[in-house]
Amino acid sequence: MNINNTIDLDFDKNHLWHPYTSMINPLPVYPVTHASGVHIYLENGEKLLDGMASWWSVLHGYNHPILNEAIKEQVDQMSHVMFGGLTHRPAVELGKKLIEITPPSLTRIFFADSGSVAVEVAIKMAMQYWQSKGINTKNKLMALSKGYHGDTFAAMSVCDPVNSMHSLYKGFLPEHYFVPAPTSRFNDAFDGSEIKVLEQHFAEHHNDVAAFILEPIVQNAGGMNFYHANYLKAVRELCNKYNVLLICDEIATGFGRTGKMFAVEHADIEPDILCIGKAITGGYMTLSATLTSDKIALGISEGEAGVMMHGPTFMANPLACAVANKSIELLLESDWQNTISRIETCLKTHLTPLVSYDSVADVRILGAIGVVEMKHPVDVAAVQKHLISKGVWLRPFGKLIYMMPPYVMQDEELIQIIDAIKTML
Ligand SMILES: Cc1ncc(COP(=O)(O)O)c(C=O)c1O
Repeated sequence: MNINNTIDLDFDKNHLWHPYTSMINPLPVYPVTHASGVHIYLENGEKLLDGMASWWSVLHGYNHPILNEAIKEQVDQMSHVMFGGLTHRPAVELGKKLIEITPPSLTRIFFADSGSVAVEVAIKMAMQYWQSKGINTKNKLMALSKGYHGDTFAAMSVCDPVNSMHSLYKGFLPEHYFVPAPTSRFNDAFDGSEIKVLEQHFAEHHNDVAAFILEPIVQNAGGMNFYHANYLKAVRELCNKYNVLLICDEIATGFGRTGKMFAVEHADIEPDILCIGKAITGGYMTLSATLTSDKIALGISEGEAGVMMHGPTFMANPLACAVANKSIELLLESDWQNTISRIETCLKTHLTPLVSYDSVADVRILGAIGVVEMKHPVDVAAVQKHLISKGVWLRPFGKLIYMMPPYVMQDEELIQIIDAIKTML
């Protein structure tokens, strides 16, 4: 029994699953009482600078008065109402905003409740579109090695097969085509031979491929790979040439993280289908959206089903839409491009020199993302314990220690995180 009225860590350990952990030997978890600005407060009084933005989602900081107010106002109207047969102002306003800030051809929006579900919906859209055209052979996808698109089954089926352990689900998980991860780095010269390999895959498989799915410019949880805009341009051209739809998953990169509002803008291309999530609500609530063009949306509606076959209970949840509206307003009213470039400059100045440490294989930076790749895998539990003793919260994976702070983090705070990283190299 928990007699101190503290958070019951024994119960947590014995009964609650945390992301990607074992029930026999779980990673430690740290009890949090509250969060404010760029800080997370632990129950024991420790205050941690959050370099993770709660997995890419927090833009304006925690406990933001304007975002709090948006939720409070909305909860007094209605916290939820079904979207089947009903609609509401927060959803309509959010739809208008998204159409304004995403590429012009994307005019039709499906709201869902998590990034993975947005990817499921995108895949269904692609499949239903080809069905509606009477083409029943296009029932596979092409994806990049080192990609990550979520943990539900269809999303997982297009994640890197090794990282997401496809072998565990053999026979059940759909099998798709994988293309090698892009190798030309974002800021380096482009190696055109990559396109030859890519085109071979298109030439061989396009008849049964409905869509190519990728994370534009930054491959995130599959290895923090920043790749060349020419590669993305080439994928768009090949999709056009071979009659394959392009799904861009901007769940991690959307809303300014790479220095552009959406990473597709680095290559000046438009996807057929776009997935967004995470930062859409400024990290306040779970919400995602899948956007597509008139052509695809109307095509689906002309098909056998006559409808898009998806409808989550919490579709377009009013609380989530209300806070998303405010978060996007805050972002657009701010000087966000200069903010991201300030963070990028600070990371370039202070994080790049870490490459001289023997234990470090590479340092790379793009927008508000800084990555230190170690030569050997990181002991997550030990590293986190050490960083917490320095007042910093990060969650490394594999060989990667990376930071993607809330945009309101100041240079001194970024440097404090970098100094903490240095002490463990
Ligand atoms: C690129 C990308 N796609 C999809 C997802 C899945 O989103 P969610 O965790 O909200 O289901 C993530 C999550 O990290 C992601 O980074």
